[in-house]
Amino acid sequence: MWDPASYLRYSDERSRPFHDLVARVPARAPRTVVDLGCGPGHLTAGLALRWPDSRITGLDSSPEMVARAATLAAPVTFTVGDLHDWRPGPDVDVVVTSAVLQWAPGHERLLTRWARELPAGAWLAVQVPGNFTAPSHRALREVAGAGPWRAELLPLLRQAPVRDAAGYAELLADAGCAVDAWETVYVHLLPAPADADHPVLTWLEGTALRPIRAVLDDPTWAVFRAALGDRLAEAYPVRRARVSFPFRRVFFVARTAARAEENQ
Ligand SMILES: C[S@@+](CC[C@H](N)C(=O)[O-])C[C@H]1O[C@@H](n2cnc3c(N)ncnc32)[C@H](O)[C@@H]1O
Repeated sequence: MWDPASYLRYSDERSRPFHDLVARVPARAPRTVVDLGCGPGHLTAGLALRWPDSRITGLDSSPEMVARAATLAAPVTFTVGDLHDWRPGPDVDVVVTSAVLQWAPGHERLLTRWARELPAGAWLAVQVPGNFTAPSHRALREVAGAGPWRAELLPLLRQAPVRDAAGYAELLADAGCAVDAWETVYVHLLPAPADADHPVLTWLEGTALRPIRAVLDDPTWAVFRAALGDRLAEAYPVRRARVSFPFRRVFFVARTAARAEENQ
């Protein structure tokens, strides 16, 4: 289950990749713009400011996230649904999906299908985290693999659910698209007050730790959480009441082939 409040704890840091992604989509007057995995919807609402004459829709599989999005006074239609089942209509000129496809096994097949099914000249803009070998995730795997919860947790931890930028560039170019792909490491300087949990632990609770929290009972979760907090404090030491948390992200913007001038 996704918790919008927990996810929004680091809203500024989590929003920036979305803005950096959409900044690379030069569509002028798209008919319909779809945000797949729109989460709490505030970023989707920003798409309505960028393209005020377009139909903007957001889709997310979490009813909690969509309920939160629906409270926004934005000219956007939000729907609960799974992106695996989504198919582009003939007027979808822009698809954005940011920090979502790492949760979607087999998303390469989806990407090539969307590239085939989208209208010619449409834009497909994707961002995924590229931090699965970072100290945060190594610590997560270590703690998960070293306790009584091992058998339950290890199958939940994905080793490499995403490609690098070159890998996606190749995939989408093979699917007939023009591709712009890149990677960025954001250095988040997270406040670390002495009386609060380690900020990387708090960050992970909004995302990567959700599947683990869902399968552990309360006492076991408390022990797991404390052990992980200790490992994270070693990996990301607090200095001057803050923690430096480098976070790699992978981006690509692909344009489906031919008749490109139609959607300029
Ligand atoms: C990390 S949040 C990203 C939210 C937003 N796109 C952003 O950039 O802040 C991931 C979102 O993807 C959604 N999600 C995960 N798997 C999905 C699926 N198969 N179909 C639709 N949404 C999915 C989750 O419910 C969650 O809201």
